[in-house]
Amino acid sequence: MAGYLFSHLVLLWFLTFGPYTTNLAFPSKVGLKSTDLSDKDLSFVPLDLDVRLLSLDLSNNFIRQLHTLVLPLLKQLDLSNNQLDFISEGAFENLTQLELLNLSRNELNNNLGNNSKALQSLSNLKNLDISGNGLSNEAVELYLKNKSSLLQLKMTGNALTAISYKLFKESKGLQIISIDGNLISDIERGTFEPLSQLETLTLARNNLAHICDFKLHQIKHLNLSRNSVEYFISREDHKWYRLEILDLSFNKLLYFPIIPKYNHLKYLYLQNNMIGALQSEATMVSEVNSLYDEIVHGKPARENHLHSNWRTMQLIHIDLSYNHFTSFPIETLFLLSSLESLNFSYNCLKNINWNIRRFSGTARQLFFVSLKDLNLQSNGLQYISPRFLEALWQIERLNLQDNLVQPCAFNDHRKNPQSPQQVKPNSSCVSFGQLRTLKHLNLRANYIKVLQEKAFLGTSLVSLDLAQNVHMVMHEEALESLQATLESLIISEINMSSSHLSLPCMVALNQLNISNNRLHELPNSLSCSSVRNIDLRNNTFVTFNYSQIHNLSTHLKTMYISGNSFNCCDNQWLTILNDTKIDVPDISETECVTDVTRLRLMEYLKTPFSYCSARTKTQEVIVGETIVILIFIGAVLTMLIVFSKKCCTQRSLLV
Ligand SMILES: *[C@@H]1O[C@H](CO)[C@@H](O)[C@H](O)[C@H]1NC(C)=O
Ligand SMILES: *[C@@H]1O[C@H](CO)[C@@H](O)[C@H](O)[C@H]1NC(C)=O
Ligand SMILES: *[C@@H]1O[C@H](CO)[C@@H](O)[C@H](O)[C@H]1NC(C)=O
Ligand SMILES: *[C@@H]1O[C@H](CO)[C@@H](O)[C@H](O)[C@H]1NC(C)=O
Ligand SMILES: *[C@@H]1O[C@H](CO)[C@@H](O)[C@H](O)[C@H]1NC(C)=O
Ligand SMILES: *[C@@H]1O[C@H](CO)[C@@H](O)[C@H](O)[C@H]1NC(C)=O
Ligand SMILES: *[C@@H]1O[C@H](CO)[C@@H](O)[C@H](O)[C@H]1NC(C)=O
Ligand SMILES: *[C@@H]1O[C@H](CO)[C@@H](O)[C@H](O)[C@H]1NC(C)=O
Ligand SMILES: *[C@@H]1O[C@H](CO)[C@@H](O)[C@H](O)[C@H]1NC(C)=O
Ligand SMILES: *[C@@H]1O[C@H](CO)[C@@H](O)[C@H](O)[C@H]1NC(C)=O
Ligand SMILES: *[C@@H]1O[C@H](CO)[C@@H](O)[C@H](O)[C@H]1NC(C)=O
Ligand SMILES: *[C@@H]1O[C@H](CO)[C@@H](O)[C@H](O)[C@H]1NC(C)=O
Repeated sequence: MAGYLFSHLVLLWFLTFGPYTTNLAFPSKVGLKSTDLSDKDLSFVPLDLDVRLLSLDLSNNFIRQLHTLVLPLLKQLDLSNNQLDFISEGAFENLTQLELLNLSRNELNNNLGNNSKALQSLSNLKNLDISGNGLSNEAVELYLKNKSSLLQLKMTGNALTAISYKLFKESKGLQIISIDGNLISDIERGTFEPLSQLETLTLARNNLAHICDFKLHQIKHLNLSRNSVEYFISREDHKWYRLEILDLSFNKLLYFPIIPKYNHLKYLYLQNNMIGALQSEATMVSEVNSLYDEIVHGKPARENHLHSNWRTMQLIHIDLSYNHFTSFPIETLFLLSSLESLNFSYNCLKNINWNIRRFSGTARQLFFVSLKDLNLQSNGLQYISPRFLEALWQIERLNLQDNLVQPCAFNDHRKNPQSPQQVKPNSSCVSFGQLRTLKHLNLRANYIKVLQEKAFLGTSLVSLDLAQNVHMVMHEEALESLQATLESLIISEINMSSSHLSLPCMVALNQLNISNNRLHELPNSLSCSSVRNIDLRNNTFVTFNYSQIHNLSTHLKTMYISGNSFNCCDNQWLTILNDTKIDVPDISETECVTDVTRLRLMEYLKTPFSYCSARTKTQEVIVGETIVILIFIGAVLTMLIVFSKKCCTQRSLLV
């Protein structure tokens, strides 16, 4: 008993202290590269650390004070997430090789005298993290002294309210600075300009309101997300800016930003602002230009700075989702000749008209020459001008989910291409046939009533999502023309019955989602396809046609079947699934019914005999009984007839 208890105590001790104690007590002869002492409930730094350590992790402990460490080879020290509030003056003096110091999530806004002295002695530091320490402007200024070799600095989640040009005076080599999650509302001129190596600056989640004069030529990646920025303006100069990524999302922008003319901007994030709130595109453009001139020259607007700068931009992606556009800013966006993807979801377009300024009386045709991916989800869109569709020269992916778009039948467009009736916002449908390059179309949840014949003729769609168009009626030939190209088709949540689902022979189809309908049989045309994944959940299937499943099984990899009421005893198809090793991920949730009960398919499969043989027996008994009863009734009837005939004969004799 005692021995048993003892061995358990030893085991417990080993589990708690084992690796850590062995490291300290028996340092290996090869020399310790690193020691992980994180999460060890330490309240002080162990005294007998191996002097050859290169890396030491003391994170997630309860260390409050730090005294002299003598680890002359140490390159990395992680003290994050402790309760450190006192670092004695000389604590770091002997860490001459230290390159990375992580002090995040401590309480270093105390004892500034000793702490800052200690930090100032680390003159070779390359990477410093002092996030989450409640640091004031003053504290940070002290902590950053004597840091000429610092390359990366993280100060997320402190209490900075302003940044002065003195802050980085002694750390001019910085390449990456993160000061997100502070309370900064003011940045003094000349703060970042002298940091010639600065590439990435994150000022997200602060209180910045206006960017009046952006001048940071050196920066590649600027993050101003989640401030209160109302406008962003850069004064025109003839220098090149290295800017590639600009994040202005979650601000209060009313206008597009005026970006420096000579830039390398590729990604512009403007989601969750108020751009477009000023009715028309023309109003917005003229307002932002007057703002520019007021700020820069103190004079009224004369030039279209916005457009002349946008024209030269090599932007690839712009996110304008969650803004306030009621009309599509065609004349601004078409200037972006490299634009490949545009997210315009969650605005309030309702219609896309071809409202562009006319030159010499004719409506111009403009083209989005590079646009491949356009997201127009959730805009209440009902009408899209054919001219707009024509402008989508290279479009491959179009997301129209959650709008009110009714696709036209193929003929609508061709019969009368020039007909003025086509521009009827209320009644008109959208003819996708114009989009010859289109590959992926999402028409989910558009209240589509009828999917007309050959609605997509002219496109070469690879994937089509028609889900959630409840009660949509599909014309027999709706998908005609997509036979050779369509690979993925989603027609779930339509409440469609088998008699209303007819699919053409689609040779390329390999994914089919027909879940959440009222289907009880698979369309015969599936035999043409080599479907690999099929989702049949939540329908009214009772069984599957054996030969059909057999045909499908040659290609089928995955099949979802739960939410149907299968007949347990009509289960030949199951043996095919079993034999061919088709994956049925939801088999354990699948139920089946017998005459007497409803049970899990798995349950049934454990003892199939007991359920269905019972049923057969009962059936036989019932059949037997019925026969006996029928014979009995027959006999009685015969007797009655014979008897009544006798009576009749007798009666007739009487007459
Ligand atoms: C510092 O440690 C925290 C975890 O406590 C981590 O999230 C952060 O990335 C580390 N900083 C650096 C510069 O490695
Ligand atoms: C620690 O550094 C101080 C000052 O640089 C030096 O005098 C002292 O000898 C060093 N101690 C060790 C153990 O290296
Ligand atoms: C450092 O801390 C010690 C002990 O608390 C104190 O005596 C000393 O004045 C402090 N030094 C500075 C520069 O604040
Ligand atoms: C600044 O770093 C140098 C070494 O580069 C060192 O000699 C000096 O003492 C440090 N200054 C302070 C105030 O610690
Ligand atoms: C900008 O910062 C926010 C908040 O920290 C972050 O969510 C976002 O991903 C960053 N943007 C970019 C483009 O890195
Ligand atoms: C478009 O924006 C929405 C909402 O911000 C987002 O959910 C979606 O991922 C974005 N899509 C693309 C392709 O960027
Ligand atoms: C479209 O319908 C709305 C009301 O449903 C009506 O106010 C508007 O005048 C109609 N527009 C056209 C061009 O028919
Ligand atoms: C099929 O569509 C439903 C929504 O109707 C969805 O929940 C399910 O995940 C889809 N199936 C597959 C395999 O993606
Ligand atoms: C689906 O159709 C059936 C029969 O027409 C109807 O009873 C049911 O309410 C419909 N379900 C939905 C969600 O519309
Ligand atoms: C099937 O229907 C159930 C109940 O209505 C629902 O919880 C489940 O998400 C549906 N499954 C799919 C794949 O949509
Ligand atoms: C099963 O499907 C085949 C074609 O795959 C068809 O010829 C046969 O009639 C179907 N059987 C039943 C009972 O529907
Ligand atoms: C499924 O196949 C395994 C052998 O691969 C067999 O043991 C099992 O009985 C089969 N189950 C059914 C329901 O056919």
